[in-house]
Amino acid sequence: MTNQTIIDYVKAELSQDKTGHAWDHIERVVANCRQLLAKLNKVVDEEIVITAAYVHDCLDDKLFNNPEEKEVQLKHHLLNNGLSTDQVVTIIDIIKNQSFSANLTSRQALSLEGQVLQDADRLDALGAIGIARTFYYAGAKGNPLYNQSSVRTQLDKAAYRQAENSSINHFYEKLLKLENLMNTEVGKNEAHKRTVFMQEFLSNFYQEIGQAPSDNI
Ligand code: ADP
Ligand code: NI
Repeated sequence: MTNQTIIDYVKAELSQDKTGHAWDHIERVVANCRQLLAKLNKVVDEEIVITAAYVHDCLDDKLFNNPEEKEVQLKHHLLNNGLSTDQVVTIIDIIKNQSFSANLTSRQALSLEGQVLQDADRLDALGAIGIARTFYYAGAKGNPLYNQSSVRTQLDKAAYRQAENSSINHFYEKLLKLENLMNTEVGKNEAHKRTVFMQEFLSNFYQEIGQAPSDNI
């Protein structure tokens, strides 16, 4: 059972978020963790998974401009609320290594606890909720829905991606890749269902805007 003080801390830390990482995201990730844990036939430290799930976005450099300070603050908070030094080290290690961005250059080694949290967080980037969060994030950042000039060379495509990140492009640079990166069997099955739904969404989207399917919009 995660300490109420830790829950209140997370709520306060994420209360200003307008990019899809607010308290509702945390609740869904915790719920996803519980579902994965219930179906996992392995010995896992559930307290570590659940506490890490609650605090996993509390030192993200996309959300905070002082992530090092946030890390120190979070460590103190966890230590002052009943967690041992070992548990705090384990939790901080998990949340620093589980994000998509932390795994871009090389895949980080994750404990089983970290793998469950990573799958749970990724599931919230997929399916109907994943679609909603993507457009919500793009709105907060002022990014376009899609790029209207679809005829581009490969070179232009790379340049475009760097310059301006459209919501549709985000499906190709991240969301559609997640299914193959899942750690657990149960997570992979759910990721597959959600990915099929996103593909259907994309296909309708292209049809409605009168453009050919492309990862270049
Ligand atoms: P992680 O914490 O795994 O690095 P992010 O915080 O980058 O993942 O992404 C969380 C969610 O925020 C994504 O699944 C997506 O919904 C949204 N998001 C992040 N970057 C973008 C983007 N460039 N365009 C649209 N949505 C984005
Ligand atoms: Ni998250």
